[in-house]
Amino acid sequence: MEVVICRDAQEVGELAADRVIAYLEGIHTPVIGLATGSSPLALYAELSRRVQAGTFDFSHGLGFALDEYVGIDPDHPESYRNVIRRTVVEPLKMDPGRVRVPNGFAADLQGAADEYDAAIEEAGGVDVQILGIGSNGHIGFNEPFSSFSSRTRVKTLTPQTREDNARFFNSLDEVPRHCVTQGLGTIMDSRVAVLVATGEHKADAIAAMIEGPVSQRCPASILQFHPRAVIVIDEGAASKL
Ligand code: GLP
Repeated sequence: MEVVICRDAQEVGELAADRVIAYLEGIHTPVIGLATGSSPLALYAELSRRVQAGTFDFSHGLGFALDEYVGIDPDHPESYRNVIRRTVVEPLKMDPGRVRVPNGFAADLQGAADEYDAAIEEAGGVDVQILGIGSNGHIGFNEPFSSFSSRTRVKTLTPQTREDNARFFNSLDEVPRHCVTQGLGTIMDSRVAVLVATGEHKADAIAAMIEGPVSQRCPASILQFHPRAVIVIDEGAASKL
């Protein structure tokens, strides 16, 4: 695990973008794994700046999002399908047909999840997986005590995650209770993982992930076993290391 501590969120975005581009450059059909949440926004904005400047082209890339809420209307502004379109696909001028998000509306959710894993494999696997981290140490929506070998599947969101995400909805009641998320095993199959986090409210989760035991209490701690994980954080998120 490589840990890089930056001054602020902007520097986190710039440095993470440098890494992502360096890893993806030269790959014929690069595959990126996409996270939602506020943490990667500075990184996506920086990648977008480089696309606009003509120094980075990702129009030939493939994308797979980590997760989606179950039962959320795909047209809801906070469905991850829409969030990924707004924050990644459009700013990075990606082909929308080449970016997939798990289907949280399928009649057969597990069948759709299995098909999602198969599509990742068919694409040759994820070259660079972008990750944020929940305040309880989740990655994707793999809440504490998720199996380390899990694949894409339906999970129940914890009360804390629903509260954390209530800011994106009109009320806590509106926050979905279930999700479809790539598993920890799926995430660990990525060739490179770049996790970004900022702010003191992430400091406990970051300390548990980097310095704690590898434990299902902190799902992100599995990244200690990832062959190439880069953790890019600001001083606030690093304050308990
Ligand atoms: C969300 C997403 C995660 C994200 C995390 C942190 O619920 N499912 O992929 O990393 O929570 O979000 P934020 O970056 O907004 O703190």
